[in-house]
Amino acid sequence: MNYNFTPFPVLETARLTLRALNLDDAKAIFGLRTNKEVNEFIDRKTPRNLSEARAFIDRISTLAENSKGIFWVLESKSNHQLMGTIGLRNFEDEENYAEIGYEIDPIHQQKGFMSEAFKAVLNFGFKELELKTIEAFTHKDNDASIALLEQQKFTLHPERRDEGFENNRSYRKEA
Ligand SMILES: CC(C)(COP(=O)(O)OP(=O)(O)OC[C@H]1O[C@@H](n2cnc3c(N)ncnc32)[C@H](O)[C@@H]1OP(=O)(O)O)[C@@H](O)C(=O)NCCC(=O)NCCS
Repeated sequence: MNYNFTPFPVLETARLTLRALNLDDAKAIFGLRTNKEVNEFIDRKTPRNLSEARAFIDRISTLAENSKGIFWVLESKSNHQLMGTIGLRNFEDEENYAEIGYEIDPIHQQKGFMSEAFKAVLNFGFKELELKTIEAFTHKDNDASIALLEQQKFTLHPERRDEGFENNRSYRKEA
């Protein structure tokens, strides 16, 4: 698949601007990716300092430049704060397929922000990228994530496995 994310596709929702991550976000990204509540059900390497957060941002920018993934910041329209992130990646695994990942700071949870971001990103994925399938792997006890996925009409595929993450379950949505 030949995606081109230059210029970066900024998406707008009622309350959010979904924009590219940049090095000025290092402190906010460090806070988000080291937040214990955010990480409760996410098995990932967390940055140990700002320089590791900057290295993460560099990797994300390279991913978009190489069309291997796209990662948006959820920025509040009212105060321009970084609230969370959402991204699509692993495009090459299967034809017209992508995996979705998402997180939002606990102070902004349960206010409908991620639902808003999801709608915009799913629309972009299915319409602009012409994806046929978007898949989310989520921990089986991650009630918030499962509620969001069900609200967005993703369905559980119990037969699918997330290699190396035994407790993750697959939720998929078709175009
Ligand atoms: C999962 C997550 C992104 C949801 O974001 P959010 O902005 O709080 O979600 P929304 O407010 O848009 O809510 C979406 C739906 O989920 C439900 N929901 C959200 N949090 C919930 C919770 N803790 N328990 C039960 N339902 C919940 C909402 O009620 C809503 O459903 P409804 O419209 O049918 O009422 C957020 O909890 C999060 O960032 N968690 C930590 C990171 C994470 O686990 N990411 C997923 C990795 S796979």
